[in-house]
Order: sequence, then C-alpha cells, then structure tokens
Amino acid sequence: MNFSEKLIIMECKMGKLRIGIIGSGGISACHTHGYSLLPNCQVVACCDINEAKAAAYAQNYNIPAYYTDYNEMLAKEKLDAVSVTTWNAAHMPASVAALNAGVNVLCEKPMAMNSAEAQLMADTAKKNNKLLQIGFVMRYNNTTEVMENLKRDGALGDIYYAKATYLRRNGCPGGWFGDKSYAGGGPLIDLGVHVMDIVRYLGGLPKPVSAYGATFNNLGRNRACNSIPTFGYERDNNAPSDCKYSVEDFATAMIRFDNGLVLSVEASFNLNIKEDVAYYELFGTKAGLKVGDTLEMYTQMNDYFVDVKPYALPKNDFTGAFNAEIAHFIDCVANGTKCKAPAEDGVILMKMIDAIYESAKTGHEVIIK
Ligand SMILES: NC(=O)c1ccc[n+]([C@@H]2O[C@H](COP(=O)([O-])OP(=O)(O)OC[C@H]3O[C@@H](n4cnc5c(N)ncnc54)[C@H](O)[C@@H]3O)[C@@H](O)[C@H]2O)c1
Repeated sequence: MNFSEKLIIMECKMGKLRIGIIGSGGISACHTHGYSLLPNCQVVACCDINEAKAAAYAQNYNIPAYYTDYNEMLAKEKLDAVSVTTWNAAHMPASVAALNAGVNVLCEKPMAMNSAEAQLMADTAKKNNKLLQIGFVMRYNNTTEVMENLKRDGALGDIYYAKATYLRRNGCPGGWFGDKSYAGGGPLIDLGVHVMDIVRYLGGLPKPVSAYGATFNNLGRNRACNSIPTFGYERDNNAPSDCKYSVEDFATAMIRFDNGLVLSVEASFNLNIKEDVAYYELFGTKAGLKVGDTLEMYTQMNDYFVDVKPYALPKNDFTGAFNAEIAHFIDCVANGTKCKAPAEDGVILMKMIDAIYESAKTGHEVIIK
C-alpha cells in the first residue's frame, strides 16, 4: 500500500465524506465552495479534460489530486460523492460512470441532453442504490421557502395558470452554450429549465401531459457590436474549438399538466426587449404571485385589492442557494434524508423540454407520456 492509499483509508476512517468534482469550470466553484463550508466532507479530487484547468483548479482550491479522466479518478479515489459540472453533453456519461462506481451524484442542470439520457441516469442510480440529485438550485432560494409556506397554508387557493420567464436581450454565454451538440439546445434547456422546474415544484409536482412550442433562430450571436457592453454574458470558458452557434435564440411554449395547471414559458439568449428579466408567476383562485429576486402577492382583503410583500425577506442570493443545495446533498448522502430534487424530477423536466423542441419542429402539440 502506498502513502496516498494509506491516507485515503485514514480519511475514510475519520468519517469525512470524500468528494470529487467532474468538470472544473465556472459553476463548479460554487459546488467546491459549498462543500468547503461543511465539516463532514472534503473535496479530495477534481477532474477536467483540460489538464491545465484541472491543475490550476486543484491548486486554487487546495485539492490534493487532479485528473483528466473521471474513470481514473473514480477508480483511484474511493469517493463517496461527486458533483458533475461539465458541459451538458458529458452529464450522462460522467453521472453513469460515477453511479456504476458506487458514488452518489449531484448533477448540474439540465440533467442531460434529452429525456432518454436522463432516464438512463435515473435507472443507473436505482440499479446501484445511489443518490442522483439534480442541480435545481432555485428550489433553495429564500423566496421558495416562503412560497412553500404560503402554498401549504392555502393562501393561493388552486393554482391554475403559471408563467415562467427567463429573457435576455443579448445573453448567449458563447462557446459550447451556443452549440447544440454540446448543450442540447439554447435558452430553453439552459435558462428555461430553472423557471419551469420551480413552477412545477411549487405547483405540487404535477405530471405534464402535453406541450405546444415554438423556437426561433433569427438574431444570431454577434449583435449590436457598437453597444457597450456588447456581450455581457459571453466569457472565456475554454470551449472546444469546433463549437458553432447552432441553438435557438428564443423559445416559447404552453404546457398542460394533469391537475389542470397550464404553464406558459419564454426563454431567450437574444430578443429585442428592453431589459433582461427572470421571474415566475403563479395565478391561483385566492391570490397570484410574482417571484423574481423578491416576492409579491396580489389578492383581496375586506373587498379591496391588495399587493402584499413579506416584510424584511432577504433577496434571493445566488451563493446562498448553492450552499443550501450542497448542504442538502451532503445531508442526503450522510444521513439518508429524503432528496428534495431527485432524478425523477429531472427526467420529467427533460420530457417537457423534448416535447417543446419536438413541437417546435412539427408545428403540432406533442403528447407527453
Ligand atoms: N445552476 C446554475 O445556476 C448554473 C449556472 C451555470 C452553469 N450551470 C450548468 O453547469 C454546467 C457547467 O457550466 P459552466 O458554466 O461551469 O461551464 P464551463 O465551460 O465553465 O465548465 C465546464 C467544464 O467541463 C469540462 N468538461 C467537459 N467534458 C468533460 C469531461 N468529460 N470530463 C471532465 N471535464 C469535462 C470542460 O473542460 C469545462 O472546463 C452546465 O451544465 C451548465 O448548464 C448551472
């Protein structure tokens, strides 16, 4: 037994969960930070196909080992859990490899490129009796907890209509995000998933039954180059050199659920609107709500229409939501707590996305099975 193998056994005996990161890019920093706040786990290895990136990441976050091949990392590191934070095309193969190696997985959104891949991931988790949690980070927002309370106490009545809106005027992150073969699609699969998921979650997780959607690719990427800022969201993500801009600019859809709820979705990377917006709205028989960074409720009282805002509710905080998501994942792995964002929900979301893209192609409503 060599020194590092002895160290691994010592750490396992000390009871700290051994965590690996697959994909050392932008969002993985939020995962690594989240783990660093928890006393019962340690990020012991990271992996990226870009070796320089993996090495720099390991140094930056004081991670003892780095790899360029996740299979090698899984074979050598005796991990308890990994975060899969690669581009979307690698979510399925990396998650399946980890689950088959007996490792619990927190996979970033979107769960996969499509529902067939997502189903395979969920089946693999089940077969290996391991946890596969999906990175639906909006479920951990401050406003979500308030919404859950309001809903539980019946403040909204029956929710029959909802809107999920995530629109950017000039906001393709560039690189692989704009390439269908790496991303699976554009703003619908990248941004729409967040707001679609939170509506379904707060709507009581109904089953989607049909979708009617349309996508457009009219504006392209290189817009208004004289404006400042020109490409607010574009960044150096060391994307592969073969990336081509091949995703939709804008997607819109109507989804029907088995409990009667109808959801209208809009998502764009590029759209001629005044400013970027991201929010969802729920309309119930007793009250309606609009939730962006904060929350506002519209109802009536003593025969007056009133607009209600929770007093001193902290704004949604991106880092705080990630920290809560990671803490929940570790709680599930360490203590068997029921997962708040299980693989099954990711599969259903991917079925909704598949149906919207299919409907956009055919021009017809698509039945979701
Ligand atoms: N939850 C959120 O709010 C949120 C925000 C941003 C991104 N994301 C998701 O996180 C994922 C990563 O996004 P990002 O912005 O960090 O992208 P990124 O390009 O910065 O990082 C992705 C990294 O994955 C690496 N990679 C690709 N294939 C790999 C493989 N087989 N093995 C190891 N490494 C591999 C790439 O080299 C790259 O370094 C995406 O799925 C994205 O949708 C989620």
